[in-house]
Amino acid sequence: EKPFSQKHLITLQDYSQDEIYQVLSTAFDLKKKLKANIPHPYLKGKTLGMIFTKSSTRTRVSFEVGIYQLGGYGLFLNASDIQLGRGETISDTARVLSRYLDGIMIRTYKQQDVEELAKYSSIPVINGLTDLLHPCQILADLMTIYEKKGTLSGLKLAFIGDGNNVAHSLLIGCTKVGMDISIASPKGYEPKEEIVKMAKENGKATGASVSITNDPVEAIQDADVVYTDVWASMGQEHEFESRAKVFGPYQVNKELFSHAKGDAIFLHCLPAHRGEEVTDDIIDGPQSVVFDEAENRLHVHKAIMVLLMGDK
Ligand code: CP
Ligand code: NVA
Repeated sequence: EKPFSQKHLITLQDYSQDEIYQVLSTAFDLKKKLKANIPHPYLKGKTLGMIFTKSSTRTRVSFEVGIYQLGGYGLFLNASDIQLGRGETISDTARVLSRYLDGIMIRTYKQQDVEELAKYSSIPVINGLTDLLHPCQILADLMTIYEKKGTLSGLKLAFIGDGNNVAHSLLIGCTKVGMDISIASPKGYEPKEEIVKMAKENGKATGASVSITNDPVEAIQDADVVYTDVWASMGQEHEFESRAKVFGPYQVNKELFSHAKGDAIFLHCLPAHRGEEVTDDIIDGPQSVVFDEAENRLHVHKAIMVLLMGDK
């Protein structure tokens, strides 16, 4: 096995194409072992602290089950229950937790807080979602696409909806592996310019194209993969009414989906707001792979932990 040179997973922008493929091949191997009932206690006796300042079903359960299957132990740390929630600094928290744990996964608001935690941690830090990025999700998405299509490079992914954390990490992840990405968002809800710039720069090395538009039909044209996410993310619930007014035309329904390739697959990070960003006939339809995608969170998270927390 090749040594893995990354210390953390803060953003996929830090990862090379090779490192992304190393995560995926480790995940495929772990998935095979789990299905064949082959024990794989690669993190025997190791502990992962999981700090959450936002809700979670998939991330929480898959990391907790994942570390257990690897022979380790996971601690769920609700940010409002630990002293962090009462004002203990991130840097002190990082230095203390580094004395107890072998890794930290954190889901929070500011990307900067994850960077701060990593800066003061002597142990690996994994970004479990911020307002800006969701790298773990995109690794599971790439695994799912690879599984269904047999390749990544040369495919086209269309993301229809809010230019949010998932859109940002897709921009980075797709362009790193040579997938074309096209994003359609309402005016004012486009992905951040700095991330688009980063993605275009990545594309120069891998041949991936990046297109940002307000036209969902244009974006979805000839897509191999169609992706959407909620119109209002965690922390934006109060904006829902105003967002619902402009996001209507960005609903992924039969009509819009018909403009993608005939064999296009549908992805959604979940949780879905059915009847808003996606209709039941699409998310429950034959081209939807959302539950395989959710399952792959487990295999990918185990791979990340093995590569970052395993004995080097
Ligand atoms: N997709 C995802 O991260 O789901 P959770 O919010 O349930 O963790
Ligand atoms: N964009 C969504 C993703 C949830 C997994 C959010 O941040 O709430």
